[in-house]
Amino acid sequence: MTTLTELDLTDATAFVRHDAYEFWRQVRKSRPVYWHEGDPGFWVVARHADVLACYADVRSLSSARGTVLDVLLSGGDSAGGKMLAVTDRPRHRELRNLMLRAFSPRVLGAVEQKIWERTSRLIKSVTRQGEFDFAAEVAEHIPMNTICDLLSIPEADREKLLRWNKLALSSEDAESDRLDSLEARNELIGYFMDLARHRRADPGDDVISMIATAEVGDGPLTLEEVALNCYSLVLGGDESSRVSAICAVKTFAEHPAQWRALREGASEIDTAVEEVLRWATPARHFARTAIRDMEIGGRRVRAGDIVTLWNTSANNDEEVFDRPRRFDPARSPNKHLSFGHGPHFCVGAFLGRAELRALLSALTESVDGIEVCGEPTPIYSNFLNGYSSLPVDFR
Ligand code: HEM
Repeated sequence: MTTLTELDLTDATAFVRHDAYEFWRQVRKSRPVYWHEGDPGFWVVARHADVLACYADVRSLSSARGTVLDVLLSGGDSAGGKMLAVTDRPRHRELRNLMLRAFSPRVLGAVEQKIWERTSRLIKSVTRQGEFDFAAEVAEHIPMNTICDLLSIPEADREKLLRWNKLALSSEDAESDRLDSLEARNELIGYFMDLARHRRADPGDDVISMIATAEVGDGPLTLEEVALNCYSLVLGGDESSRVSAICAVKTFAEHPAQWRALREGASEIDTAVEEVLRWATPARHFARTAIRDMEIGGRRVRAGDIVTLWNTSANNDEEVFDRPRRFDPARSPNKHLSFGHGPHFCVGAFLGRAELRALLSALTESVDGIEVCGEPTPIYSNFLNGYSSLPVDFR
């Protein structure tokens, strides 16, 4: 069994090699807030109540240096103060109000309609065709196209955006190169800068034109800010949704009785979506930096300390979830923290949920049984949780 001292949370392979759920169960029980040694070290927060309180406490915990452990350990996020997710109040509120305009009911309605059409088409195309990779043939095509629909990105550019984003964020092989990843991020931002420049000069009725021409605080955003905030939608919405969809299929394949119940209408799609999100917990953690001395779960945290909030642990806290390692699509209430909480709560939650709803609906309509035909490929990351390939057969 994994002991507490064994697990190095900075190691991208730690959770592939060890049983994360058993590790976090022990942490919650024996030292729910602890200092992880390192250079620099950081705080680890494991209980649901403490993680929730930290997400809400934007007066003491800042996002501006970065919100992902690796980024904080390597010196901080260069987009701090410019990109929504890594900005603090009061600028965060201004940017968030602007970004929320991108998610107006009119825009979302049209994007959601396309999600349903695309998902249903993709599921029909793979059903009864024998073994295929669900990640490559279905999951990969939904989230990026959704964000591209939201931003009115030309079809011809979408393939390359997906490729760059995969390189920029996930570590599909344990050896993946940091430089490639930085280059891909720069390509993406450069792409959005060009688009922002064109749409500012010749605005249309689309979200990038809206962001590029809006007045925020003292005036319009710089082109770099427009680009970073468009990129933040890709960053926030592509991989998280992709791994959730993969997890949904894998989990229902492993739980045939729950799959039958969903198909027969004995459990609701909406509660199943929430349970998939809890089960998948796509972002294992988010991180903050303390900007004043504070206490978390009785431990003294000093200004400047890095604080990591472990969603994987919070979403399996037995204080909040009855038998947390039971996959229960009818679970209600389901207070998972997969979308975070408080002022930085995911702006794409509606779309993330809509994608899973469309997937489960399309599957229940046309698929009798799901069989996993080979080993799925795990993602090596202490941030992103899930699989990058899933060989399956839909009958
Ligand atoms: C924020 C998860 C889908 C865009 C967040 C946060 C989480 C999260 C946990 C909070 C981060 C923090 O507190 O530091 C997820 C999951 C998704 C998903 C699990 C899918 C299942 C999306 C989609 C989009 C998106 C589809 C865009 C279309 C964002 C943005 C933020 C954010 C821009 C920053 C919000 C802010 O700081 O105010 N997401 N997300 N996400 N998400 Fe998502």
